[in-house]
Amino acid sequence: MNLPITARVNKMNHLEIGGCDTVGLAKEFGTPLYVMDEATLREKCREYAQSFRAHYPDTRIVFASKALSCTAVLKVIDSEGVGVDVSSGGELYTARLAACGMKNIYYHGNNKSRAELKEAVDAGVGRIVVDNLAELERLDEIAGHAKKEVDILFRMNPGIEAHTHEFIQTGKIDSKFGIQRQDIIEAVRVANEKKYVNFVGIHSHIGSQIFDIEPFEAEVDVLCQTAKDILDQTRTEVMELNLGGGLGISYLGDEKVPGTGEFAERICKRLMARIKELSLPAPRLILEPGRSLVGNAGVTLYEIGVIKDIPGVRKYIMIDGGMADNPRPILYDAKYAAYVANKFNEDNGAKERVTVAGRFCESGDVILRDVELKKVEVGDVLAVTATGAYNYSMASNYNRVCRPAMVMLNQGQAYEIIRRENYEDITRMDVVIS
Ligand SMILES: Cc1ncc(COP(=O)(O)O)c(C=O)c1O
Repeated sequence: MNLPITARVNKMNHLEIGGCDTVGLAKEFGTPLYVMDEATLREKCREYAQSFRAHYPDTRIVFASKALSCTAVLKVIDSEGVGVDVSSGGELYTARLAACGMKNIYYHGNNKSRAELKEAVDAGVGRIVVDNLAELERLDEIAGHAKKEVDILFRMNPGIEAHTHEFIQTGKIDSKFGIQRQDIIEAVRVANEKKYVNFVGIHSHIGSQIFDIEPFEAEVDVLCQTAKDILDQTRTEVMELNLGGGLGISYLGDEKVPGTGEFAERICKRLMARIKELSLPAPRLILEPGRSLVGNAGVTLYEIGVIKDIPGVRKYIMIDGGMADNPRPILYDAKYAAYVANKFNEDNGAKERVTVAGRFCESGDVILRDVELKKVEVGDVLAVTATGAYNYSMASNYNRVCRPAMVMLNQGQAYEIIRRENYEDITRMDVVIS
């Protein structure tokens, strides 16, 4: 299922999430509207931590905040004991504003600026994930100026090709990310000579929206073998193995997605087997899920404004949002499911084949193409599901359209966590020349 865990149909035949009527939410807060179900978010955090720790107690879960960075969400994440992965100064700033524990921050990025590295050192982030040797040099210098030691992991390219959309693959040989596997020993040697950086572990990330567990098991093999090589060739213990994120979620409701429990069991078993086989000191295991923590907690509500039927060709349903609040379909042909929120469970309601198009000036601004949807009328509320990850965080102001608000839902309460933008917000940076 791709709906939040609290989703149900209420007496009025409306979709309800977190005890709130989504049709009422659309009226109260306007559309488009991002909604987040707090119960689903908390449940996912707990499921990850408990599933992994049941098999391998020394596991730490870190939320990849690129999937959804906003203070209220990070506060929930932090309160669940989950760390935060940031990949820019802006994401770090957001985590600080949310009062997240700095020791639980993992700082990523393949070309962090000097200013960003300094911010990270000054903030005392727990780990900096160093992507390349140029960054190592810069970081040592910056940490030296600050007279602070920093714990680092090296991001390594494990050369694993996960089966997912090419544009969101990051772990294959031809990638801008990370140090090539054959160069990692030398990188550790260089780090060991530095005064202000302490090498503590290795990281890799093999891609996103992955449904097979095998590539992750192969990643465990590569990281363990690398840890063994580092130990044998440099006498340096690898204390942390960070597998990155990447577990897929259901967008359509019928994909075969591995459960967190199965994922955790297989990863931990593989890790323990390799540790034993290679006589490795047991490292701490780190996971960095993004999508699989927040994706299914989010739903976007739109109002249908126009219906255009081209007989024998296509029927378009036009919504008041689109590619600016959800750029994933136009970027990499991502697929979504939608429900008519105000006719949620009309079992005998006729269905028809439609294409849901956005309001932006691009023909490709289509959120769902050729899907079966209950017969809709102008004014109906459309709920597009699984929009919690990489929707708000990738949103733009294309056509100078204001970005939607986001509300958090919990036990019948709805509170705004991101305010809707207004015209002043979107022109705030314009230098008006008279
Ligand atoms: C280094 C790193 N960690 C974690 C993630 C999160 O991936 P996902 O949202 O697929 O779990 C990403 C995503 O790009 C990433 O680059």
